[in-house]
Amino acid sequence: MIELSVVILAAGRGTRMNSDKPKVLHELAGMSLLQRVLNCAHQLNAEKVCVVYGHGGDAVPLALQGSDALCVLQEPQLGTGHAVQQAMPHIEDGTHTLVLYGDVPLIQPATLHQMQKMEGALTLLTVNLADPSGYGRIVRNSEGDVTAIVEEKDATAEQREIHEVNTGIMLVPTRLLKGWLSKLKNSNSQGEYYLTDVVGMAVDEGIAVQTVQPGHEWEIHGVNSKSQLAVLERTWQQVEAKRLLAQGVTLADPARLDVRGRLECGRDVEIDVGCIFIGNVTLGNKVKVGAYCIIKNAMIADGTQIAAYSHIDSSVVGADCQIGPYARLRPGTLLHDAVHIGNFVEVKNSEINQASKANHLSYIGDTSIGRRVNIGAGTITCNYDGANKHRTVIEDDVFVGSDTQLVAPVKIAKGSTIGAGSTITRNTPEGELTLSRSKQTTINGWQRPVKKV
Ligand code: UD1
Ligand code: MG
Repeated sequence: MIELSVVILAAGRGTRMNSDKPKVLHELAGMSLLQRVLNCAHQLNAEKVCVVYGHGGDAVPLALQGSDALCVLQEPQLGTGHAVQQAMPHIEDGTHTLVLYGDVPLIQPATLHQMQKMEGALTLLTVNLADPSGYGRIVRNSEGDVTAIVEEKDATAEQREIHEVNTGIMLVPTRLLKGWLSKLKNSNSQGEYYLTDVVGMAVDEGIAVQTVQPGHEWEIHGVNSKSQLAVLERTWQQVEAKRLLAQGVTLADPARLDVRGRLECGRDVEIDVGCIFIGNVTLGNKVKVGAYCIIKNAMIADGTQIAAYSHIDSSVVGADCQIGPYARLRPGTLLHDAVHIGNFVEVKNSEINQASKANHLSYIGDTSIGRRVNIGAGTITCNYDGANKHRTVIEDDVFVGSDTQLVAPVKIAKGSTIGAGSTITRNTPEGELTLSRSKQTTINGWQRPVKKV
């Protein structure tokens, strides 16, 4: 394989986005357009990645902090050829330069690998479009060899009939590219330095120009407006849905699924409509996810059922659990097998062991719960004293009656029972019933107030 340098063009203003944010920082499926292209570049093992940016002040360099990409400012923006030229001082002559675009986010490594295989010469990624308008056309001679790329604005009526277009993505030996870029002229209808003019120069020097077509047409679609971004988002979600369906996942409606990251599914997984998966999510075999769940950075083990409208964030859920409807698992939740978390139960930074249940209206925060524990409706762990958080420990086989407050730090010992309506502030003894209640009284003859006239 040839040694690769990648130049990502991202200096355009993106006027049609109608946004203060640079275009390439807008997100598709939960990740910025630019980050998607960078991830693709990394998968190609590029030895250097240069991002050419322009508008938006430091927003692009700030977004790239911590990555190994080099940011190069293009100011003013005098065309795609001028943009690539800005990166050239940072790129080794002996490499091949691959030009990608920060606003063409779905380009796939497999397509670029095909280009890399065309060792030696200048390689263009081209595509045949039913409607080629707006694109540079690929001009070929009678032998079928590429002779030039003509921008639409500079094309003759005859050239505009050509359906094979330039995607803009090209792979060029860096040494040759540097020479050609230095000879570019801006004598065209837009007064710009066109990167595409290097094709004519290669032809003049007798250097073969090869073309590769992308695996899918959507790979080369650019984003210029919110409308195009929305269309491409749906395209990508359809790709994800098809991938899941092909693996055997049941999707109630492939058009109503959003994957904003990586979703890995086992066998016989079922996902109802309107679910959003964010970050890295793994669903084990036979997991069922009800409608309108939001699941982020979570692992759900085999056989677990998540009922509608549940939110799960940064949590691990064991096998055969029942979650929801309307359950909320916040970061740091670890549920072992066969745990039940019901409606309007919030769990945060807590471990709940096998076969324990909290089925209704509870808050469980900074808590360790043993096995076979029953948490009654309306139980609250009072974990916060206004300054610090404290832990609650509930041991195996505890039964907590409804409407109980457990004021942390507190330990509810093995097998103990807490009477409903209690406020527990001290540790409880093993196996005993503990309760805190004022005695029930009746005020004889008490009358409800009546409205004054
Ligand atoms: C370019 C190609 C055209 C191709 C089309 C595919 C040229 C001359 N033409 O045309 O053949 O069919 O892309 O979409 O290359 N950019 C900079 N700095 C600049 C100018 C542009 O970074 O000075 C970036 C833009 O942000 C954008 C990309 O380069 O991401 C393409 O620029 P654009 O002006 O949209 O080129 P097109 O006219 O679409
Ligand atoms: Mg364009």
